Amino acid sequence: MRSRDWASARQMGVRMQEAMEEIQIEGMVYEAPAEDAPALRGMDPSFTEEDLTIDRSLRPRLLKDYLGQQKVKESLSILIQAAQDRADSPDHILFSGPPGLGKTTLATVVANELGTNIKTTSGPAIARTGDLAAILTNLERGDVLFIDEIHRMNRSVEEVLYPALEDFSLDIMVGKGPAARSVRLDIPRFTLIGATTRTGLLTGPLRDRFGIAFRLQYYTPAELADIVRRSASILEVAVDEGGALEIARRSRGTPRLANRMLKRVRDWAQVRADGAITKDVAARALEFYEVDAMGLDSMDKKVLEVLCVQFSGRPVGLTTLASALSEEADTLEDVYEPYLMQQGFLIRTPRGRQATPRAFEHLGIAEPA
Ligand SMILES: Nc1ncnc2c1ncn2[C@@H]1O[C@H](COP(=O)(O)OP(=O)(O)OP(=O)(O)O)[C@@H](O)[C@H]1O
Ligand SMILES: [Mg+2]
Repeated sequence: MRSRDWASARQMGVRMQEAMEEIQIEGMVYEAPAEDAPALRGMDPSFTEEDLTIDRSLRPRLLKDYLGQQKVKESLSILIQAAQDRADSPDHILFSGPPGLGKTTLATVVANELGTNIKTTSGPAIARTGDLAAILTNLERGDVLFIDEIHRMNRSVEEVLYPALEDFSLDIMVGKGPAARSVRLDIPRFTLIGATTRTGLLTGPLRDRFGIAFRLQYYTPAELADIVRRSASILEVAVDEGGALEIARRSRGTPRLANRMLKRVRDWAQVRADGAITKDVAARALEFYEVDAMGLDSMDKKVLEVLCVQFSGRPVGLTTLASALSEEADTLEDVYEPYLMQQGFLIRTPRGRQATPRAFEHLGIAEPA
């Protein structure tokens, strides 16, 4: 088993089997949680199977269908083309940013552009080093391995990943006690794509092993309007300029929400109007669904209310704020705060989080003197 060549290691199927069993890779399953069901449901318990199917059909397949994030797209297309010219796999790629901005979508887009397979798993799903070994040894040359929520990967698993990323080799321990020995296997060249909502939680060594990292930004209303129009044409819904923009403005800078909003507005337009989505129809539908004019969701509003009312506009520490909201500090920091800050409702001060005059104005309450 000293062979550094995986092809010949594979021929030693039987012994490999034993080795695998010894390190207890039962089943070697990594059931790909390819869809974001748990993440989606986590954000909104009313999320249905239908939403999920629609989400799937609306997901862009190629870079040309992926709208917005212009800079990211350009860098990616250079990366992809350069790798293809060299007949090599591109460097490992990291995508970070709040939920629903298109990290998973981009990972599949990259694989589609490369014309390779994509194997999908997630940090928490790779519980043991054996699980990772099974995944890596099953890759084919050039494959994309997508690890979602990569910041939640177990540290010991992460350490096994390092040499795989750098040298495309895998060190595994075979056997127990005095008979234990380390076996080094070569694995095919592959491209890891990691996604995380929390770059801050990635360890330095892991972060450094990505050749390129992208932080996705919230989309502008104009970009979201393009996405709404694209989705509307897939769903065969008539939507005009004004209607698309009205939905876009209230979608919290997030394509996932824009798509869902479109669906709700479509329903309303079908039942209460003639089916076509104009600015007026969109506005009335969104009013009916009590969607905030700024696209804030109920948690966003709760954050602002706590800051403005409970703490009367004074700065509040993150942990205090989190416990006032019964929410995890991490979630607050990664999911809610970025949008509220971007919209100018909340600022970070050395003494804590503070609501801005704009927040008071939006809630329609007077700012304390
Ligand atoms: N640039 C885009 N153009 C068109 N549609 C998009 C774009 N980005 C995302 N979408 C749509 O938004 C949905 C959500 O995107 P995606 O699942 O990739 O987000 P994510 O960043 O992986 O979110 P999470 O962190 O929750 O996993 C997709 O199903 C897709 O339809
Ligand atoms: Mg995702």
